[in-house]
Amino acid sequence: MAFDILVRQGILPDGATADIGISDGRIAAIGPKLEGEAGRIVEAEGCLVAPPFVDPHFHMDATLSYGIPRINASGTLLEGIALWGELKPLLTHEAVKERALRYCDWAVSMGLLAIRTHVDVCDDRLLAVEALLEVKKEVAPYIDLQLVAFPQDGFYRTPNVKANTLRALDLGVDIVGGIPHFERTMEDGRRSVTELCGIAAERGLMVDMHCDETDDPLSRHVEQLAYETQRLGLAGRVAGSHLTSMHSMDNYYVSKLLPLIAESGMAAIPNPLINIVLQGRHDTYPKRRGMTRVPEMLKAGIRVGFGQDCVLDPWYSLGTADMLDVAFMGLHVAQMTSPADMRRCFDIVTTESAAIMGLEDYGLAVGRRASLVVLDAGNPVEAIRLRAERLCVIARGKVVAERPRRETALSLSGRPGSVARRHGV
Ligand code: FE2
Repeated sequence: MAFDILVRQGILPDGATADIGISDGRIAAIGPKLEGEAGRIVEAEGCLVAPPFVDPHFHMDATLSYGIPRINASGTLLEGIALWGELKPLLTHEAVKERALRYCDWAVSMGLLAIRTHVDVCDDRLLAVEALLEVKKEVAPYIDLQLVAFPQDGFYRTPNVKANTLRALDLGVDIVGGIPHFERTMEDGRRSVTELCGIAAERGLMVDMHCDETDDPLSRHVEQLAYETQRLGLAGRVAGSHLTSMHSMDNYYVSKLLPLIAESGMAAIPNPLINIVLQGRHDTYPKRRGMTRVPEMLKAGIRVGFGQDCVLDPWYSLGTADMLDVAFMGLHVAQMTSPADMRRCFDIVTTESAAIMGLEDYGLAVGRRASLVVLDAGNPVEAIRLRAERLCVIARGKVVAERPRRETALSLSGRPGSVARRHGV
């Protein structure tokens, strides 16, 4: 058999060692030892070969705008929202597009090949929507980019937002967003969930709402979102993002809520890097962590993905497009330190998030799209621990990023040539 690319002797996430043969952009064969010619050989001996990273929650219209027009001095959510309000009128189509494309380059270098981004639809010009629709088209050969119509300033709280949302969906935005906890009243928030889910059901679209991104233990929009998911038959097509109020909710109430969410088929997308810095800001000590209840949701059978949310924007002054950073933070904040839980955190930033995004052609299996990442680690947990170097990134059968392997004394896998092995450690 002849292959375009042969990835030789990589360690798959399940621990098996295998060759992966790629032809015409697809995975043509996987086996312990593949025979045949190959246009290109990628030596992956001792390296983890995984499906690409997936970020199910991002804000690409704001990314890399750090310092424009000023820096978020307090680092708080409220100053971030005020700063975004100052930045919005200054946005230009070209600048949004240039920053988004630059971010996509970062993403590719990190093996991040699928991103769901929210895009603010409160600006009547829909400038960011148009810019990101162009970006989506341009990066389509290597990144799956989904857009969510996001009423950042509130669906009812800002004039024209309903019309803007519908216009954005007509233009090709994929998913219906929302921000019920930011509406004027709890009742307006509840109504917005119902109306927005109705729009999605009517148009056959998915839903992804910023939901209960607050420390208020009485913010209960997640309950409404689960209710509408079930009522409208949207199971598997709805995600609640952030859900931070659940951290502070009464335990008895949560014991009723989690089975309701599980029953509805709604997924959850916490954003560990951002939730750990933005939540609990009104607390003295002890300070709440503010991330939603990840291990409990997993135990209840709820699908969970981790998102990056922000990189160098009004809300977050750090970030590198590295989903291993996100997994690392999520693992720590959720105290998911058993071997099985740590392993699960790797799945959360790969296969689980891919399932939330509905990526049907994703994964290391014959016939699927040939997108994968070769990591300088012996297994998924080591990849998280080291935030391992991405040695080779392949997108749809093409090598799109490569880095030389560096010697390290930090690997327990004892891969050939490592400093640790040479010194007999
Ligand atoms: Fe967000």
